[in-house]
Amino acid sequence: MQVIEANGARIPVLGLGTWQLNDRVGARIVEQALRLGYRHIDAALIYGNEREVGEGLHASGVKREDIFITTKVPHTELAPLNLERAVKQSLANLRVSDVNLLLIHWPNPQIPLAETIGAMCKMKREGYTRHIGISNFTVALVDEAVKLSSEPIATNQIEWHPYLDEEKVRAACERHGIAVTAYCPIARGRAVGDEVLTRIGKTYGKTAGQVSLRWLIQKGAIVIPRTSKVERLSENMAIFDFELADADMAEVDALAKPAGRVVSVGWAPRWD
Ligand SMILES: NC(=O)c1ccc[n+]([C@@H]2O[C@H](COP(=O)([O-])OP(=O)(O)OC[C@H]3O[C@@H](n4cnc5c(N)ncnc54)[C@H](OP(=O)(O)O)[C@@H]3O)[C@@H](O)[C@H]2O)c1
Repeated sequence: MQVIEANGARIPVLGLGTWQLNDRVGARIVEQALRLGYRHIDAALIYGNEREVGEGLHASGVKREDIFITTKVPHTELAPLNLERAVKQSLANLRVSDVNLLLIHWPNPQIPLAETIGAMCKMKREGYTRHIGISNFTVALVDEAVKLSSEPIATNQIEWHPYLDEEKVRAACERHGIAVTAYCPIARGRAVGDEVLTRIGKTYGKTAGQVSLRWLIQKGAIVIPRTSKVERLSENMAIFDFELADADMAEVDALAKPAGRVVSVGWAPRWD
C-alpha cells in the first residue's frame, strides 16, 4: 500500500470509509477490507458504529501495528473535558489503546479553537493518538489551526471529488506540509454513472469510480471510499496499476461546478 508522509505521519493512500456501515455489515466489511489489503480505516464517534468497526479490526487477524486507524471528535464535544471523554469513548468502542490519527470532525465557532487544539495536543502527548488532524477546515481555519498547534497537523479531511474544486484548500495544506484526505471521493456514488468518467475509464479498462479515485490520488490526495459490498472493495482498491494522462486529468478537472458539493452542510455551525 502506498503511503503519504505528512508532518511525521505515514498515511496509507487508500482507506475505507465507514459512515453508515452499521451492525453486521460494518464488522464484516471492515474485516474483509483488511483481509484484502486495506490498511487504513476511517471511523468517527458520531457514526455510532465504532464497536462494529472494532469488531472487524479484531476479527481480521491483521496486526494492530499494520493498520492505520483514524477517528474523529464530534463538533459538539470540542470543549477540552468533553473532547477527552469522547476520545476515551472511541478507544473503548474500537478496543484499541490508541489511534493513529485523531481529527476534529467539524469546526465549531462556539468553542474557542485554541482550547480545542490544546486538548488535541494533550491527547497526542498522553498517547491516546499518534497524530492529530482537522476536518472540514477552510483555508483561514487551516492557517489558524497551524498557528495555534504545538503539535504538527497531519491531515485536513475535506469533501473532494471531480465535481468540487478544492485547489485553494489543497494549496493551503501543501504550504503547511499537511496531507489532504478526500472524503466522498466518488461523490456518494454519483461519479459511478458519470458519462465523462465512464468514457475515460473505458480507455484504461477501468470504471468511472476508479477514475474518480485515481484522479484524486494523482492530485496528491488520500482517498477513503466507502462500500457495503465486498466485491466493490476490490474494485475500489484497483487504482494503483494505471495512470491518467494529462489530457484526461484536465477533462476531469472541468467537471467541477459551484454547486458540486454532495454533503449538505446546513446543520453545521458556520464561521462566516
Ligand atoms: N469528515 C467528514 O466530515 C466526512 C463527511 C463525509 C464522509 N466522511 C468519510 O468519508 C467516507 C467516504 O464518503 P461517503 O461514504 O460519504 O461517500 P463515497 O465513499 O463517495 O460513496 C459511497 C457510496 O458509493 C457507493 N459505492 C462505493 N463504491 C462503489 C463502486 N465501486 N461502484 C458503485 N458504487 C459504489 C456506495 O454504495 P454501496 O455501499 O452500495 O457500495 C455508497 O453509496 C465516509 O464513509 C466517511 O468515513 C467524512
